[in-house]
Amino acid sequence: MESLINKNILLGVTGGIAAYKSAEIVRGLKKAGSSVRVVMTQSAQEFITPLTLQALSGNPVSTDLLDAEAEAAMGHIELARWADAILIAPATANTIARLSSGRADDLLSSITLAFDGPIGLAPAMNQAMWKDERTQSNIKNLENKDFSLYGPGSGEQACGDIGLGRMLEPSEIVELFASLFKAGSLSNKSVLITAGPTQEPIDPVRYVTNRSSGKMGYALAEAAVEAGAQVTLVSGPVNIKPPASCNFISVETAQEMYDAVMHHVSGKDVYIGTAAVADYSPTKVEGSKIKKDGSNESLVLEMKENQDILKTVSDKEDRPYVVGFAAETEDLLKNARKKLEKKKLDLIIANDVSDKSIGFDSEENEVTLITNSEEVLLDRSSKKKIAKRIVEFISNN
Ligand SMILES: Cc1cc2nc3c(=O)[nH]c(=O)nc-3n(C[C@H](O)[C@H](O)[C@H](O)COP(=O)(O)O)c2cc1C
Repeated sequence: MESLINKNILLGVTGGIAAYKSAEIVRGLKKAGSSVRVVMTQSAQEFITPLTLQALSGNPVSTDLLDAEAEAAMGHIELARWADAILIAPATANTIARLSSGRADDLLSSITLAFDGPIGLAPAMNQAMWKDERTQSNIKNLENKDFSLYGPGSGEQACGDIGLGRMLEPSEIVELFASLFKAGSLSNKSVLITAGPTQEPIDPVRYVTNRSSGKMGYALAEAAVEAGAQVTLVSGPVNIKPPASCNFISVETAQEMYDAVMHHVSGKDVYIGTAAVADYSPTKVEGSKIKKDGSNESLVLEMKENQDILKTVSDKEDRPYVVGFAAETEDLLKNARKKLEKKKLDLIIANDVSDKSIGFDSEENEVTLITNSEEVLLDRSSKKKIAKRIVEFISNN
């Protein structure tokens, strides 16, 4: 549990029977070397007193949002800035619903909304409340927003029911929470990613391009940075901000992307080609705008095939682990497998772009990871979440 040493942990305690166990969680976090500040909801104070948690944490416990004195001492925004991570244990069905809908009408929900770091939740509730589809949909929503979930466990409950809903034991929660700070799965690895479309000029004002928002590539770059990798992102024109700590190279044409990749690929551990590179580009780029003056009813563009960046990378002698994408509209898995073999890839990620809800511009995706020996379906989820799972898969291979 070394990863918790010198960390500032904000523990949120909400109003469930398991709240008494939060005392043990405070002790566990402190023992692991963290500074702990506790925020309690109104209901939580019916189950355990702030005094107990104040004595154990060694810090004043915060309970009110609209308390001038508390706000002057350490207000909600300051608490959000102070914390390296937030752990909410126990997390009631009510708090889960409120976090899912982005409420900010008490201290804990306001801090959580203002906080820009990892948040862990240890749900605890009656088994019927947990099973209810509204709770399940709130949980799914929060998971998609990168909340980490610890439990719940199963067994006999305080109300006499048996089933899923028990809060995990404090020691288990602290151990799972500590893994948020473990060295990333790609630390000491270097990753080169291409993203977005390319634009092949016809004349100074027109170009041929492919559909691509760049969202998946940027999400992968972010996930790889978070996993500790040194990331180089070569991107065609898109409207997304690249992750702050990556080496960002902006290109326009397929040739520029090819040159940038060849320049940066040597010594890389992983290459991920998500860019929708134009297969062809006009043989001749007109120096001035082609006029529509009525003399030509049709316009014929002669195109030449562009170099295959993915294939060139995988043909290299000192090749990295090569990952490609297959955006297909039919025979998804068959076509993806063909591409895996033909381009000698280590991994291909197949997605069905005929389905608009997971296609080019959407926030979600559903993909199948295919290697020579396995096939793993990643269920529909946010592109961010899918990117994390892909990075996890790559780091295990
Ligand atoms: C005795 C008792 C035990 C409760 N235990 C739980 C529980 O374990 N989990 C839960 O989600 N709600 C539980 N509740 C309901 C919550 O206290 C209630 O939904 C409350 O509004 C939660 O507020 P909070 O999420 O702001 O803390 C319990 C209520 C009572 C009266």
